[in-house]
Amino acid sequence: MSGLEACLFDLDGVIVDTAKYHFIAWRQIADELGFAFSERDNERLKGVSRQRSLDILLEIGGLALDEESKARLAEKKNGFYLDDIRKITPAEILPGAEGFLWECKAAGLKTALATASRNSALILDLLRIRSLFDVVVDGNKVKRTKPDPEVFLLCAKELAVEPARCVVFEDAEAGIEAARSAGMISVGIGDPAILKRANMVAPGLASLTVEMMLAAFDPGKERATR
Ligand code: G6P
Ligand code: MG
Repeated sequence: MSGLEACLFDLDGVIVDTAKYHFIAWRQIADELGFAFSERDNERLKGVSRQRSLDILLEIGGLALDEESKARLAEKKNGFYLDDIRKITPAEILPGAEGFLWECKAAGLKTALATASRNSALILDLLRIRSLFDVVVDGNKVKRTKPDPEVFLLCAKELAVEPARCVVFEDAEAGIEAARSAGMISVGIGDPAILKRANMVAPGLASLTVEMMLAAFDPGKERATR
């Protein structure tokens, strides 16, 4: 018998391919500020809040700005990002994501969206998948950004499930750390060389099944994956 009760999904880079739009928008800001910003640099921005992302970006560029300029830049980045996001359709749901959510429902598992994004309501509407999540916890609800576990712990609380009975799907290093700190099993979505600290890594939800998760969550095997 499995001890798994809930699946918690990050949004950007796990459910939908918006991670590339975040990158493009931040690179536009870096261009304007006059420094290079690579995809490897961008890994540090994944999963963290808009404000924290800007702080990391400025650190990469070796710049220090006052709070007012930072607020203006964060808003500008969001404008660039929204220009792309407003055009997204369900075709941009990542392969296997919607099917996996339906499988969760069929298996009686609870589902939550756990993201630092403040744009999640718009994205879920455009993708028409809001109803597939029992709970949505986003950047408007939490104070601390991943790697802090707050977003995942609040999902578990709202779902009324113990953290140890949750599995987290994440494409960001910060998200994997947050899952670990929350006492949850983590599945990295992406490159195993980057997501080294996850309990397991897959290229996408298309290569995973709920059955695999239930088996991995067998209490006897659980410790072995840590
Ligand atoms: C997600 C993304 C981050 C992004 C953050 C805030 O966690 O992985 O790259 O910075 O959300 O998103 P927002 O849509 O509020 O700017
Ligand atoms: Mg992500």
